[in-house]
Amino acid sequence: MPHKEDRKGPVWLISTTWRRNTTIRWRRYHVSRAMSIHKTSSLRYSDVTPRREYINRRLFLAAGSAVLGALASPFAAGAETKLSGYTKSPFSTDEKPTPYSAVTSYNNYYEFGTGKDEPAKNAKNYRTSPWMLSIGGEVTKPKMLDLDAIMKVAPLEERIYRHRCVEGWSFVIPWIGFPLNALLKQVEPTSKAKYVAFQSYYDPKQMLSSRAAQIQFPYIEGLRLDEAMHPLTLISVGLYGQTLPPQNGAPLRLTVPWKYGYKSIKSLVKIRLVEKQPPTTWNLAWSQAYGFYSNVNPQVDHPTHSQATEERLGSGIFGQHIKTRMFNGYDQVASLYSGMNLRKYY
Ligand code: MTE
Repeated sequence: MPHKEDRKGPVWLISTTWRRNTTIRWRRYHVSRAMSIHKTSSLRYSDVTPRREYINRRLFLAAGSAVLGALASPFAAGAETKLSGYTKSPFSTDEKPTPYSAVTSYNNYYEFGTGKDEPAKNAKNYRTSPWMLSIGGEVTKPKMLDLDAIMKVAPLEERIYRHRCVEGWSFVIPWIGFPLNALLKQVEPTSKAKYVAFQSYYDPKQMLSSRAAQIQFPYIEGLRLDEAMHPLTLISVGLYGQTLPPQNGAPLRLTVPWKYGYKSIKSLVKIRLVEKQPPTTWNLAWSQAYGFYSNVNPQVDHPTHSQATEERLGSGIFGQHIKTRMFNGYDQVASLYSGMNLRKYY
């Protein structure tokens, strides 16, 4: 996916047909890169195996190797530490969690690679301590918090949430964290604060360039203030009873379970309360496909595929093909959007 500026080029010299064809070509390219497992260099197993079967076989093998020899698995021996003292949340689903090995080996974290298996390999030596999170903008009490302070913002809870990626697959993940609203209340948003803007850590020395990853870095996201204050919106600091592995967004990330996964920004360093709707990384990359709201909605298709169903991955060679639910099944958020046309505000 070329940069947006490159795509536009010197528009005054370019014919309409050329521009239209370029846009179509760019979309096809973008979709094959961003919406599936991809490698352009040579024909791979994934190119000749049905996608669904291929993904599940990989996850099944990963789960198997973890069971057969935890120390032999590259993903089981991480430096994650056990978390304790967290309570179980009534917001948890009773659906079966996806195996740890799948959740931590099949990731989207473009800063560390655009293939699903790359973040776990490339983020291995990523240092997440010391870490500082700044919270400012339209607030009366801006804050700079280190990890110790972050862990004390509110009591930790385990929340088992469904996690639906815009690509059409889903997991069930037992996160550990606290509601974002606990943090936002501490900084006291002013009456001007209408939105919350989030920014990921970015270090070009240990991460891909924007050009290589084909999306803008630092990764940025945003929520409306009432969405950010909703009790389901979580700051996650762990999963499966341990601190977050780097590939899942260590040391802290956002988790917004009723929205497509790309809203759940990883490795947070900056939160700003703002008056106007903030820009977001995927919306900047392709606004027709990735809206600001990005609520899971089986009735609004992605330009390249239906969103009516999803593959629940990680439970065996064949994933479970299930119907996607409005707001990913989190009906309690519906009132946030009453009166809004969700086809327009996708
Ligand atoms: N955050 C950052 N900083 N960079 C990313 O590439 N990918 C997003 C989101 N947060 C992404 C990110 C996408 S597309 C998804 S689906 C989820 O993280 C994936 O989270 P997981 O790897 O823990 O399943």
